[in-house]
Amino acid sequence: MEPAARGEQQQPTGRPAGLGLLCSSVLLNALLLAHHFLWPSSRLLGDDGGGGSSCGLSWSLPAAREAEAVAAVDCSGHGQVFLDGVAGEDGRPGCECNACFAGPDCSLRTPNCTADADSGNPLFLEPYWRRHAAAGAVVFSGWHRMSYVIPDGRFQSVELERQIRRLHRAVGNAAVDDKHLVFAAGSIQLVNALVHALSPDNNAASPPARVVAEAPYYPAYKVQTVMFDGREYRWGGTTARWANASRANSTDGGGFIEFVTSPNNPDAVLREPALAGSPAAAAIFDRAYYWPHFTHIPAPADEDVMMFTMSKPSGHAGSRFGWALIRDDAVAARALEYVSNSIMGASRDTQLRMLGIVKAMLANLHGEDDIFAFGHDVMRTRWRRLNAVVSRSRRISVQKMAPEYCTYFNRIREPSPAYAWVKCEREEDEDCYEALLKAKIITRTGVGNEVSSRYTRISLLKSDDDFDVLMERITDLVNAENYEEDAPGSSSM
Ligand SMILES: Cc1ncc(COP(=O)(O)O)c(C=O)c1O
Repeated sequence: MEPAARGEQQQPTGRPAGLGLLCSSVLLNALLLAHHFLWPSSRLLGDDGGGGSSCGLSWSLPAAREAEAVAAVDCSGHGQVFLDGVAGEDGRPGCECNACFAGPDCSLRTPNCTADADSGNPLFLEPYWRRHAAAGAVVFSGWHRMSYVIPDGRFQSVELERQIRRLHRAVGNAAVDDKHLVFAAGSIQLVNALVHALSPDNNAASPPARVVAEAPYYPAYKVQTVMFDGREYRWGGTTARWANASRANSTDGGGFIEFVTSPNNPDAVLREPALAGSPAAAAIFDRAYYWPHFTHIPAPADEDVMMFTMSKPSGHAGSRFGWALIRDDAVAARALEYVSNSIMGASRDTQLRMLGIVKAMLANLHGEDDIFAFGHDVMRTRWRRLNAVVSRSRRISVQKMAPEYCTYFNRIREPSPAYAWVKCEREEDEDCYEALLKAKIITRTGVGNEVSSRYTRISLLKSDDDFDVLMERITDLVNAENYEEDAPGSSSM
């Protein structure tokens, strides 16, 4: 399934493709043999087998060997070894086990373990990259982009910009032709970069802008705004406070900057601005989840200011890479200035890795190794399984979602949200987070989204192991409830 483009890219000598293939297969076999017979002598020591070069490769071989040796260590399918993991007594990094698994090879299941469904850690895509290990691998030289800048004094890779634009066009989820791209260290950094870019100058006479969002909203908008709160802007609360037309149109308290998350985190609704129509309101569309594995794509998003992250489409949250698409020249310049002044541009190492990842995604779109088809399949199966259990409950409910036509898949697709937005229905379960915690399920309370504590968020994005444990605990909860109801003389309502 290796994309031709990547194969070609790795053969700068212009060697014919057939010879390249033969070479890589010889190299692969050599690596497998080395894995079987040479451990531990050559495994993590970085030697090159004594030959110094193989198939025209020289300095990259020890690193490649080390990466493959680490990846091949068996952690029973419930953990993995990372190159930068803590070294044990034998000098080698050991298995890092998934939650609820332990032991040197992660084969021991912790009985009756608590399910942690709190964070939006997108590990559901890890099996995809394991399966497509070659396509996702990136090699760095020791001298790769050591400079603060790339030519022309820029901080952003022109080629990565080009490939991201290609990805949006091919997926059909954003109109890119009339927009600037601004890279950042995750889209979390863009929250403040874009608020700054849309705010009045801090020496202007106008009052600070109010940053608002409709509840339930992604809590980082408030956390970030409050952290940098100052002369330019301040947190203005939820849109419900301002939705009344006359209040939103009044500029006496400054304009509005509204975060519109679409699809929304936590409830997956495709949203529109609540303050739309108010001349004093600008909107920042957070499109983190506007990719075909999480939502149907009705049309390319074409708002003036949009933010994206690589954390959710490819799952590379740890690389910390996000980008904004901005129509207006001056707003884009201010956002770029913010990122330049705070971190002098997104890490060049990250940009190189993202370039490889985006190219691999592009090379497989609509094919049998399409990452969005894979991701949608995983997420819709999880949503189906969760609904099958929750539908037997009168104690908890989740948001209702219908199948919708998706322009990317060119068919009606089943829902596959990143999160379940859970409501506790029983009067006594006023604090839904606590009620689920008692059932050994860690969730994220709706209080942080500025809604009632009756709501809490369950992450569906984590690893297969996390999801399996979650399903066990939810099934226990629902079974216990049905058992109580079936008991003679009981009444749960
Ligand atoms: C709606 C939304 N926006 C932004 C982010 C931040 O993403 P990043 O990993 O790029 O900082 C998240 C992360 O969960 C999110 O849910």
